[in-house]
Amino acid sequence: MCGIVGYVGTEQAAPVLLQGLEKLEYRGYDSAGIAVQQNGIFTVKTKGRLADLKQKIKQDILGHVGIGHTRWATHGAPSDINSHPHSSENGRISVVHNGIIENYMELKEFLQQQGKKFVSETDTEIIAQLFDYYYQGDLVDTMIKVIDKIRGAYALGVLCEEHPEEIVAVRKDSPLLVGLGKNENYIASDIPALLEYTRDYYLLEDNEIVLLKKDSVQIFDLHKKEIKKDIFHVDWDVSAAEKDGYDYFMMKEIVEQPESLRKTIFPRIKENTIQLDQIELTAEQVKKINRIHIVACGSAWHASIVGKYVIEKLARIPVEVDLASEFRYRQPILQKDDLCIIVSQSGETADTLAALREAKKHGIRVLSIVNVVGSSIARESDDVIYTWAGPEIAVATTKGYSTQLSVMYLLALYFGSAKELISSQEMMEYIDKLKKVPDDVEKLLEVEERMKALTEQYANTKDVFVIGRGIDYAAALEGSLKLKEISYIHSEAYAAGELKHGTISLVEEGTLVIAIATQQNLFEKLVSNIKEVKARGASVIAIAVEGSESIEKVADEVFYIPKTNELFTASATLVPMQLFAYYIAVQRGCDVDKPRNLAKSVTVE
Ligand code: G6P
Repeated sequence: MCGIVGYVGTEQAAPVLLQGLEKLEYRGYDSAGIAVQQNGIFTVKTKGRLADLKQKIKQDILGHVGIGHTRWATHGAPSDINSHPHSSENGRISVVHNGIIENYMELKEFLQQQGKKFVSETDTEIIAQLFDYYYQGDLVDTMIKVIDKIRGAYALGVLCEEHPEEIVAVRKDSPLLVGLGKNENYIASDIPALLEYTRDYYLLEDNEIVLLKKDSVQIFDLHKKEIKKDIFHVDWDVSAAEKDGYDYFMMKEIVEQPESLRKTIFPRIKENTIQLDQIELTAEQVKKINRIHIVACGSAWHASIVGKYVIEKLARIPVEVDLASEFRYRQPILQKDDLCIIVSQSGETADTLAALREAKKHGIRVLSIVNVVGSSIARESDDVIYTWAGPEIAVATTKGYSTQLSVMYLLALYFGSAKELISSQEMMEYIDKLKKVPDDVEKLLEVEERMKALTEQYANTKDVFVIGRGIDYAAALEGSLKLKEISYIHSEAYAAGELKHGTISLVEEGTLVIAIATQQNLFEKLVSNIKEVKARGASVIAIAVEGSESIEKVADEVFYIPKTNELFTASATLVPMQLFAYYIAVQRGCDVDKPRNLAKSVTVE
């Protein structure tokens, strides 16, 4: 959660920090702050958004070394005092932190016994005080001692008054990377923060300690042995992290979906076969897979449910889908020939990373589907298939989710073909449809104006139910989440056949039901479900496949997706729901990109 940035160089640090934090605000936005080395460490921080911080800065902050933070509160409510950076009591040390220190209470008691006084409710203040307690002149030595005492997840950036030209930093289970410049160097939680300044990075492993000066970057292990690392180069365009004239990143990212899908799908199709060159899982190994466990959180979990339907259908391998936060603690039954598929846009979600480690602990092969290159999940997996969505900034995922779906299609076809369950003729037909998925999504973007007009009618809706069967149910889960995430309208996804077992009692005059009916063998059943909710006063927006116009007899509004293979419908289906959620949120005056209480990258459990 929280975003960290740090700068050491020849420019003024404050503008670089503020600019970096702007790009990291998606990670948390209930308070923000910076600390800059002047004659002593000057700190300014506030509850609220980055805009509030900028307002609070009344005079120029002059200094070439500094750290900054944007917060998603865990320990202690958002307040000026609880905002980062946090200082040691004597003001000598200043710390920004992303993560949670699990043993902070015992460390606090220990420090209090040494006479230290605390001002905030945070776990981070303990680190500043502990750092000061152990400090004897060397930053790296001190960091080694601090790490030895703290338990939990952390990315830390630390300033010390006595080292005005340096930053010391470390990470464990929370992301942090080092940006490399000429006569200037950086730390940040994520690449977009630094894209304007550099394309060259060091990716840090757990407990690697970085000593950052303007003309050098040294990385040490816990025995203070220096580590040499390869430079990781990104070729992203700066505009990838800009709004490019759109009101919100979310709309830009919705519109980018066809392009992201092309980048993800097309390079993996060669001569009418699916070629996943980057993975080492061979056809022979696929044949032996006994069971697949797909594990993820949030929207990635929804993509996993679509994956279950598609993989089971095409490859006839049993698939279990788990929420990472459940999987990691429920002692899942994992057997030798099982495969674990981890799905994560950020590659840093704490529960998902822990689930990956749980699977590996059992000796299970892990294949991950990740968007952020070089992220923790990507690095710890046996195989990685990247979704080429590019940076996703809006908290509510759109292109990240869409590209995950497309990788599920690719994998299912790859597995099915490895198991010789798909003939070459069938494969040609599947591939033909798969190649059209980006066009289908593009076509659905044309409903934008119609959807915008429609949302005016529904802006004050209190309850929405999104219903579907089979893959449509999986798509309903994601459509419903989009709505509640950004518009704060209560919304639930329901397997349509389950409605009668309780939920239909909530349907009354004015309830909105979004019904997805793309699966032909389930179409009539879904129409019956629509009739049932209509009979109880619901308004119905339906999403169906071209050619099923009979649905107009029961639904108030219908959006059509192009005819395609039924296994791939979730991609186009989702677009009207993304647009619906977006425009409802705009109508209701919500901050679309930064919904209340949420953060994009959930790096604490
Ligand atoms: C957060 C985001 C969601 C995302 C989920 C999992 O809740 O707001 O959009 O689906 O985390 O994130 P991941 O990066 O692991 O896909």
